Amino acid sequence: MQMGIKNALIMFLLALISVCNGSRNADRHWNILSPRKKNVVHGTSISLKNYCESWRINVELNNIRGFEVVPQECTAYIGKYMTSTQYKADSQRAIDESHLHLSSCCTLKGDGKDAWIFDVDDTLLSTIPYFKKHGYGGEKLNFTTLEAWMRETKAPALEHTLKLFHEIREKGIKIFLISTRRDCLRDATVDNLIKEGYHGWSGLVLRGLGNEYQRVKNYKAEARRKLVEEGYRIWGIVGDQWSSFDGSPAAAERTFKLPNSLYYVS
Ligand SMILES: *[C@@H]1O[C@H](CO)[C@@H](O)[C@H](O)[C@H]1NC(C)=O
Repeated sequence: MQMGIKNALIMFLLALISVCNGSRNADRHWNILSPRKKNVVHGTSISLKNYCESWRINVELNNIRGFEVVPQECTAYIGKYMTSTQYKADSQRAIDESHLHLSSCCTLKGDGKDAWIFDVDDTLLSTIPYFKKHGYGGEKLNFTTLEAWMRETKAPALEHTLKLFHEIREKGIKIFLISTRRDCLRDATVDNLIKEGYHGWSGLVLRGLGNEYQRVKNYKAEARRKLVEEGYRIWGIVGDQWSSFDGSPAAAERTFKLPNSLYYVS
């Protein structure tokens, strides 16, 4: 009996909270009180899986921007996806399309000015092991712990990208890595890349003190502009963030986006 009253009280309080939350964004947020049941979103009855998959795909489409954390109700779903065979297949497909582009796109001049750009994190090296320990994007990104993890140089390679990297290199195309990592992580980054089988890149651009607070898309566009001014023809960019392609100059024949719904870099 006592328990019954207590439960009723808890349910009442929860209902009250949901009413408060619900009044602002009733159609945008998942009803946490019935996570296993269907919710009605914009008049359509959907499951939590539907809800989280549509969140994920809209991150990939760059419709959802600048999120600081993965919605709490979706961290389990996103964690599952980022460690799934589907994630690997999706990444592999993006890399296959890069192969395809590479086999037909480019009249390489062989004058040392053909170039290709890669991101580092979640393009060449995976940060998934870090996020596994930090709630799969459910916690606000903590750069202290992330950089400490990067210094351990244990990030594994994305195997499909590794293959593409060497294929590109063997064609005589120069590879430039443009990363949001800070320059103080240069040694650790180089160590980690070499340990995982990457070598022979022509440049590794990291963020110095001057551009640490610059928007990433501007910082990356500036790095591309420098390459173009030096006479490079950029045939492709592979990255996991839209900020790797945005901004002017676009300056690449094609861009290839790898999936990543753990964090957003703008
Ligand atoms: C980041 O993590 C460190 C180590 O756990 C902690 O001391 C610090 O307060 C955190 N920073 C933020 C901004 O949460």
